[in-house]
Amino acid sequence: MIYADYNGSAPICDDVKDYLIERLKKDGPYANPNAIHYLGSKTLMGMENARSICSKVLGADYNQVIFNSGATEGISHVFHSCLDNAQELGIKAVIVSGIEHSAVINSAKAYANKGVETKILPTLNTGIIDLSALESWLADYGKELGLVAIMAANNETGIIQPYEKVAELCNKHDVPFLCDTTQYIGKTIFNFKKSGADYAVTSGHKFGALTGAGILLAKDPTSLRPLIIGGGQEKGHRGGTQNYIGNETLAVALKNFEKNLDKIEALNSKRLEFEAALTEKFPEVVIIGKESPRLASTTYVSFPGIHGQAVQIELESQDIFVTTSSACSDNEPVTSKVLKAMGVTDEVGRGVVRISLGLCSPLEYYDEILDALTKAYEKLGKIKSY
Ligand SMILES: Cc1ncc(COP(=O)(O)O)c(C=O)c1O
Repeated sequence: MIYADYNGSAPICDDVKDYLIERLKKDGPYANPNAIHYLGSKTLMGMENARSICSKVLGADYNQVIFNSGATEGISHVFHSCLDNAQELGIKAVIVSGIEHSAVINSAKAYANKGVETKILPTLNTGIIDLSALESWLADYGKELGLVAIMAANNETGIIQPYEKVAELCNKHDVPFLCDTTQYIGKTIFNFKKSGADYAVTSGHKFGALTGAGILLAKDPTSLRPLIIGGGQEKGHRGGTQNYIGNETLAVALKNFEKNLDKIEALNSKRLEFEAALTEKFPEVVIIGKESPRLASTTYVSFPGIHGQAVQIELESQDIFVTTSSACSDNEPVTSKVLKAMGVTDEVGRGVVRISLGLCSPLEYYDEILDALTKAYEKLGKIKSY
């Protein structure tokens, strides 16, 4: 079996599994980390140690790390902090790109009732956001902008965005910048301070930690307004008893990432080799974002005329699990909004499948996927579906 949907959710990594087995075998600490007795302080120490590790791996200060349930919560928290009092602050617009995850786009749109317009930044055909449009919108709207939210890497295409440049422009115009690093952290090196972003978010399940645990990084945590009020946990930024075991796994998984940094380059070369071999066999195949910087282990490939879903099912019958971007309505697979924003035609858009592996995936997986895709394309190519 080959699991190739890491961008959807990565398997729990071996170091985290070992950690959890040992952790659960031990007699605690299981006390509430907010309890004042000795056992509570033991749990707290474990969790704070995890915060310290996460801050070091992510290039942030210890107090800039806020544990939460994941990226969607982090994104909602930042939008709430920047836009909840939009009317009092005279905020009239927010900028997001057209390739953002729905957690970002829908959060932006939710503030329409507070008079905040969602401005969708155009994307170039390369899959990279239009920086010159951003620059002129920042200049035009200035202080009326409540937030700019742009991702570091796209979940479908793996295309890496010029987020440091975005931060520079936002800082120049004094507009807060949320960098959605959900697909970036744990796949490549990210340094929060160097990025220049005001906020960054991630989910543990994308890099081998437990699902339901995540991180919000905030340059100035006092700029946050709590989304969940509760009993003042996480220094008042996020109420509710912390998911301390989940938070501990974030640190274990990030350390595991650091330990395996040398694998990124090998994975990247093998992926490029795989893509080259595939396009040599099938010249009509399109690799989305081929000319753009991409994550080491994401390939988004289309054979125009063969439905992505048919390819996905065919691969699944060979025990290989990939995904497509196609949302279906009335059995009419459609081109994803990300691909539409990049100007990809329906002919190409309907044929895509996403192959996403992880840092520790064996390189030979690419050879097996190549064989399986070859079989699938040869078979399905005879009865082209659209
Ligand atoms: C770029 C990006 N942002 C945000 C999210 C939301 O993450 P979660 O569902 O873990 O909250 C995802 C999930 O796929 C993502 O890929």
